[in-house]
Amino acid sequence: MATHARGSVSQWDKDRLAVVTIVLTLFISLNMSCAVVLADDIYSIARGGRLFDNWILENKDRPPTENHPQYQIDRPSMHSNESSWRCVSCHGWKHEGRIEQGTGVLKKAKGSDPGMLASILRDGNHQYGLMLSENDFSDLAAYIQADIIPSIDPGAGIIVGDPEQEVKLYATICANCHGDNGLKLNNMLPLGTFARRHPEETMHKIFNGHPGERMPPFRFLEASRLADLFAYIQTLPDKNLLASIARGGRLYDHWQKETGAQPPTSRHPAYPRQAPGATKPLTNWRCKECHGWDYKGLDGAYGRGSHRTDIKGIRALAGSEPQEVMALLMDRNHRYHGSRWFQAPLDLQDLIDLANFVSYGQIDMDEYIVPISGIAKGNPEQGKDDFNALCATCHGKNGKDLATGRDIGDVARKNPWEALHKIRNGHPDEAMPALHALDMTFLVDILAHAQTLP
Ligand code: HEC
Ligand code: HEC
Ligand code: HEC
Ligand code: HEC
Repeated sequence: MATHARGSVSQWDKDRLAVVTIVLTLFISLNMSCAVVLADDIYSIARGGRLFDNWILENKDRPPTENHPQYQIDRPSMHSNESSWRCVSCHGWKHEGRIEQGTGVLKKAKGSDPGMLASILRDGNHQYGLMLSENDFSDLAAYIQADIIPSIDPGAGIIVGDPEQEVKLYATICANCHGDNGLKLNNMLPLGTFARRHPEETMHKIFNGHPGERMPPFRFLEASRLADLFAYIQTLPDKNLLASIARGGRLYDHWQKETGAQPPTSRHPAYPRQAPGATKPLTNWRCKECHGWDYKGLDGAYGRGSHRTDIKGIRALAGSEPQEVMALLMDRNHRYHGSRWFQAPLDLQDLIDLANFVSYGQIDMDEYIVPISGIAKGNPEQGKDDFNALCATCHGKNGKDLATGRDIGDVARKNPWEALHKIRNGHPDEAMPALHALDMTFLVDILAHAQTLP
């Protein structure tokens, strides 16, 4: 019964469930020492949790036209009618009570007896008599009787999840609806953002599901696994993809600088033994060293000269699912994460940013720079003022003002692909702005002007 989807339970099932629940509850109240939650009841507990969260959504009811009469409005614009009738609005996600609503800790003793709960909820204080059914009362009672969601606040020192343990659970279940990044459902915050801002609520929904939706409740798994799942969800990106993409671009450039991580001391296993950078681990672990500033590997500028490795580019993965790229970066070829042979140099958020860059942040350099000759396909006259406005503050009008680093004119002529990559993504671990949000024409004009600098 616990595994039924909501829509597939017949009225007969529901009635039978109600009877079973009442009998069980009687049994439990007659044997108060025996506080077992019967596995068969998870369906009912989880549904009670969704009713507690938002019974209007769960029952697909119309919201009452008035605020709940007992609801104390502090900031009226923050609360709709509907939210004033949600149990959670007055009792809290962990039944801890809300001072401003005059509630204290919700005691299991009263709430877990359906008969008693029904009379509490029908009284003048609550006024749910016409809104909730017997079945709703018994599910709510089963829920109040069950264990409260565990505290996941590391500050309170209770459960701290491991973000790497339940990636599979997310990827195979939640991602179906929420997408690999938690960004797929447009009518909610990105899942990662939501989980960071509303940890208790997220945990409640992992346990009980989302009211009125087919989202599965995961109560039946151990709380520690759910805490791990939750910890992973908290690493999912915000909708401001651009920031993640640009950081991914800087990691692609030089992840050791960007993260401050300890660089590996031996050659990247995929780096050819006879290629020019073989003895320089600090160089041969950089993505750009194997795949090129133009992302074309052996088909681009690194197909010849002192950086040649004959490794393919990453263009084929532009537009792919970031999850796919993350998997590549963890495999035996790349070993950037979670390998038993190497201390993993990058963490999960780094991989997410890199994957976002590979999937969404690449450009076709040939559109903006003539291959081989490296001449920028922009207008240097147009770019001059913008260079002076945007770049000269740090680099000077002549591009030579920074004590560290190379002259901008030099880089722009010798390696325009590198210059354009940095203009779009910024320089690793420096304040240089990433200009992803600006028009490409604008950026290529700046590059064209930079090529004229001394
Ligand atoms: C508008 C605010 C509000 C809403 C909404 C609300 N309650 Fe209450 N509830 C109260 C107040 C106030 C009390 C009495 C103070 C207390 O016991 O904490 C109370 C008491 C209770 C009690 C008795 C607690 C005890 O231990 O004596 C239960 C059980 C309860 N509420 C369940 C619910 C459920 C289930 C819902 C949703 C269907 C709900 N409440 C919605 C305000 C609210
Ligand atoms: C069958 C589809 C489906 C699956 C599978 C699913 N969800 Fe959901 N989830 C939804 C829908 C639909 C919503 C409601 C979005 C909205 O607010 O309109 C939602 C809402 C949420 C919310 C609350 C967002 C909010 O704004 O209130 C959280 C948190 C959440 N899901 C987490 C998860 C997690 C974690 C998993 C995997 C254990 C998961 N979901 C699996 C469909 C799904
Ligand atoms: C030492 C060289 C090397 C480094 C450094 C390197 N890769 Fe790779 N990468 C490879 C090789 C070799 C392949 C091809 C593997 C294959 O075809 O099986 C590859 C394949 C890929 C692919 C798939 C390309 C395709 O068309 O199948 C992507 C995407 C990728 N790498 C991204 C990255 C990122 C991001 C980084 C930096 C975090 C990185 N790589 C660092 C050697 C490297
Ligand atoms: C807030 C200051 C700042 C701004 C604004 C800025 N940069 Fe930079 N840029 C830097 C720093 C710092 C470096 C790193 C220098 C180094 O390698 O030590 C850098 C590096 C570069 C490099 C690579 C140089 C090298 O030695 O590797 C290029 C190319 C570049 N910037 C171009 C630009 C362009 C074009 C603009 C305007 C669109 C711009 N920068 C705006 C601070 C800035």
